[in-house]
Amino acid sequence: MIGRNWDFALALCLSVMVAGVDPNELPEPENLTLSWSPDHFSLTAEWSEPAGLDDCKVNYTLELILEKCPPSSTEPNLNKEIRQTVHLNYTWEVSNEREICIWVRTNPLQCGNRTPSKAVYKGISPPLAFVKNFTCVYYSDMKMNCTWSVISHVPDLQLFYRNEVSDHLKPCSAYFTKEDMKTGCHLDDIIFKSHHTFFNIIGTVKGSIISNTFMRVPRDSVKPEPLELKITRDGDRLYLQSNTPEFAQQCWKYKFRYNKCNEEVSLLPSVY
Ligand SMILES: *[C@@H]1O[C@H](CO)[C@@H](O)[C@H](O)[C@H]1NC(C)=O
Ligand SMILES: *[C@@H]1O[C@H](CO)[C@@H](O)[C@H](O)[C@H]1NC(C)=O
Ligand SMILES: *[C@@H]1O[C@H](CO)[C@@H](O)[C@H](O)[C@H]1NC(C)=O
Ligand SMILES: *[C@@H]1O[C@H](CO)[C@@H](O)[C@H](O)[C@H]1NC(C)=O
Ligand SMILES: *[C@@H]1O[C@H](CO)[C@@H](O)[C@H](O)[C@H]1NC(C)=O
Repeated sequence: MIGRNWDFALALCLSVMVAGVDPNELPEPENLTLSWSPDHFSLTAEWSEPAGLDDCKVNYTLELILEKCPPSSTEPNLNKEIRQTVHLNYTWEVSNEREICIWVRTNPLQCGNRTPSKAVYKGISPPLAFVKNFTCVYYSDMKMNCTWSVISHVPDLQLFYRNEVSDHLKPCSAYFTKEDMKTGCHLDDIIFKSHHTFFNIIGTVKGSIISNTFMRVPRDSVKPEPLELKITRDGDRLYLQSNTPEFAQQCWKYKFRYNKCNEEVSLLPSVY
């Protein structure tokens, strides 16, 4: 009886092995490593060319997923941005706020009937977060206030920022403080049209220097200041006039709402 069970187990095992190896499937990339740039604003994945490519020309498909490895689906997700490269590395601009999982697979370029390899994964976890709820409000031309909640006592906390990748890092020059903690920064040179503004909050926690990085899109952080309304009367006409936000003139629509005493609210047509 025991011998038969072993035979059965062996047969099952062999059939699984045979089913698991597709001779046309390309070998997976090897030795995938991830590393942050010194300013923690970009993450580079590097890997080695797999052995056994023979004369195949290949490229590599990559995906960055903002979740812990292994990601919930191992199939390429068409809603996410998929990158391809013929090199053995790829760099993303990304902050270290969240878990990141990177997958890479070998892809046939000129390779007969070989098929893409299985994906290999590597994850990287965020550093200890000593600030949370990092929020920015772009409220006037070039002006943005960013605030955060401090969750560890970090007296040497400093914020550095830059508008674009090519810009150099600048220190915050006008902090908001609460007791002895820095809780925000007023910035007055933020370019509205920049893709991202990059922020690096650096501080010493339990003896080590930690960077918490954030990327924010100024366009997505807009909250204009309340407008000032001027009302003038000329005979039986009222004239409504207001100032306009000081930036991105082409982006605004205005609605004037008024109501006569004890009557329903009326809405004037939008004015562009
Ligand atoms: C991957 O790393 C291992 C151990 O460091 C090494 O022996 C192997 O040669 C590497 N593979 C490639 C393709 O570089
Ligand atoms: C990578 O290979 C695929 C074919 O498998 C091709 O469609 C794609 O254009 C290639 N991309 C690059 C960047 O070489
Ligand atoms: C990425 O690969 C390219 C081309 O092989 C090489 O020139 C570059 O130095 C590599 N970058 C990194 C960060 O390894
Ligand atoms: C931003 O900070 C400046 C400087 O402290 C302040 O005058 C302004 O009212 C703040 N605006 C917003 C929207 O937080
Ligand atoms: C972050 O913001 C959320 C929602 O506004 C709030 O519930 C939470 O307490 C905040 N966290 C900290 C550490 O202040």
